[in-house]
Amino acid sequence: MAVPIFIDCDPGHDDMMAIMLAVAHPQLELIGISTVAGNQTGERTFDNAGRILTLLNRTDIPLARGADAPLCRKLVTAPAFHGTSGLDGAELPSSAVPERAESAIALMARAILENPGPVVLVPTGPLTNVAMALRAHPEIADSIERIVLMGGGVFDSNTTPAAEFNIFVDPEAAAAVFAGGVPITMVGLDATNKAVLDYDQIAQIEAMGGPVSRVVAPLMRFFSGANEELFGINGAPIHDALAVAAVVAPDLLVTQDVYVAVETQGDLTRGQTVADLYGITGLAPNASVALGVDRGRFIAMMIDAIRRLDETVVA
Ligand code: RIB
Ligand code: CA
Repeated sequence: MAVPIFIDCDPGHDDMMAIMLAVAHPQLELIGISTVAGNQTGERTFDNAGRILTLLNRTDIPLARGADAPLCRKLVTAPAFHGTSGLDGAELPSSAVPERAESAIALMARAILENPGPVVLVPTGPLTNVAMALRAHPEIADSIERIVLMGGGVFDSNTTPAAEFNIFVDPEAAAAVFAGGVPITMVGLDATNKAVLDYDQIAQIEAMGGPVSRVVAPLMRFFSGANEELFGINGAPIHDALAVAAVVAPDLLVTQDVYVAVETQGDLTRGQTVADLYGITGLAPNASVALGVDRGRFIAMMIDAIRRLDETVVA
């Protein structure tokens, strides 16, 4: 029985890989997508999600545009990593998905409540939409089996020395989600910076020469650029795809159940995910935090997904 998942994302190169894995994996059912401003503006991330679904011939998957800004802060984007389009590096088809009258949080709530069983919610961008949905529709919490989010880090960071991008952009939203009571798996940088598609694997995808692989390879090369330049990573850390993979194969991750809170006041520490690894606060764990990953098995799953999409997508 496929696991129903709903993705909230800010495409974004690694968000694209997350969507591709969710569409391709036989044990996952992608019941809807909402987009949020993050890697690029709200307009761009929505258009990029539409382009991805158009490329995959999956415009049947409901898609709605969400927040254009964090709950109470100015938007910070990531053009150094994702370019001015948010998906620089290759030409995707124009989006065949029009904006819908239904808001992102309305679609998210309806998709979750209408699903016959509990849904796994997979946020891979700033948590603005998720926080708003839980505030506007608290009844959805009981129908969310788990929130498996890409974000945060215990020992690792990328936007400031203390914070990861998704949490940094909207720390108030993240603080609300971590305090919200829904079980969380935090797939943070401690695992995702090891979840790297290296240059040999990008070349392997390029050699497939299919309608999806021939777009994925140059996009991954682009995404590798800033990651190698700034962090010395030898390839593309496909952060968001690991969150999706962790839904279908939780044992890909090495995790520890701990209490996590999000810093919203600190000048130097805004957006830090403060993990109580030793139980010093005495507060009950609210998150299963990823500290390691079986990289080989994850990358094999991702490459297999691209292969499947090449076979199913009509060029
Ligand atoms: O820090 C990595 C995260 O920020 C990923 O979700 C990436 O897409 C960006 O949104
Ligand atoms: Ca993202």
